[in-house]
Amino acid sequence: KTVAVIYGGRSAEREVSLESGAGVAQALINKGYQVVKIDLYGEDEKFDPVKQLMDTEFDIAFIALHGGEGEDGRVQALLDMLEKPYTGSLPLASGFAMDKALTKRYWQGLGIPTPNYLCFSAEPDVDQINEEMSYPLIIKPSREGSTIGISKVNDQSELKAALEDAKRYDSDVLVEEFVSGAEFTVTIIDDVAYAPIGLKPAQGHALYDYEAKYLADDTQYLLPCGLSDDLELEVQALALDAYQSLNCRGWGRVDIMQTAEGDFTVLEVNTSPGMTSHSLVPMAAAYADISYDELVEMIIESAWQ
Ligand code: DAL
Ligand code: MG
Repeated sequence: KTVAVIYGGRSAEREVSLESGAGVAQALINKGYQVVKIDLYGEDEKFDPVKQLMDTEFDIAFIALHGGEGEDGRVQALLDMLEKPYTGSLPLASGFAMDKALTKRYWQGLGIPTPNYLCFSAEPDVDQINEEMSYPLIIKPSREGSTIGISKVNDQSELKAALEDAKRYDSDVLVEEFVSGAEFTVTIIDDVAYAPIGLKPAQGHALYDYEAKYLADDTQYLLPCGLSDDLELEVQALALDAYQSLNCRGWGRVDIMQTAEGDFTVLEVNTSPGMTSHSLVPMAAAYADISYDELVEMIIESAWQ
């Protein structure tokens, strides 16, 4: 079988995807697959992604793209049109999960806990934010990944700059109340939730941000995550609930916070999680004695229907 590893893309997460794609391609080669690498858009925005996919012979695609059209369902829809199987969620679930504000509105209706928020498609209403939300706030582009464009805002004086920064990445800006407790992430493969990882950014990082994710080597990853067995099961069940509520398929990763009161609240579902050497899904798999190469094969196998 020939696997096309689709990576790169032109979203703000291109650099992360280049690393994910390289790792995944090598793992597939190690496992004996024929591999073709498709750097979507290449270095050049003028590449035609439709032609790139149509001109390549393959049996199945491993989507190692993050953000933009690679994670929001558009590449997935194109592969559907070409009748090629691919890893991860179908177009609708992909697009839904990529839109944090839409997901949160939906979860509120279902009773899946998620931090309080406002979302603005037009000019953010600063008075409304100050009246309805309690600081600190997290300001983020609604459809972006890897904490790009995200700021923590401690008081009103910092709000405007943070809104402008988020707006650079997406027309929809999400204003979320900051949860001061611990952060956890849960890997899901084939509807099985793996051990939650606790995330502790090092001093100087208010958040588990882009630098803490990919550049710093002093971020602490807690595995086991430090919760009691009962609470660990609770986090896993909540992660699976959030993931399945969106009809996600194949694999994904759910980011969850614990409030100071001890309750869990869901931030988002990632339908095309990072697969770099710093990434969390490979870490959770390793803890379950699944090597990186085995993990990649499991994800490919979850894609055959
Ligand atoms: N958006 C990054 C790649 C992640 O969720 O891992
Ligand atoms: Mg994300």
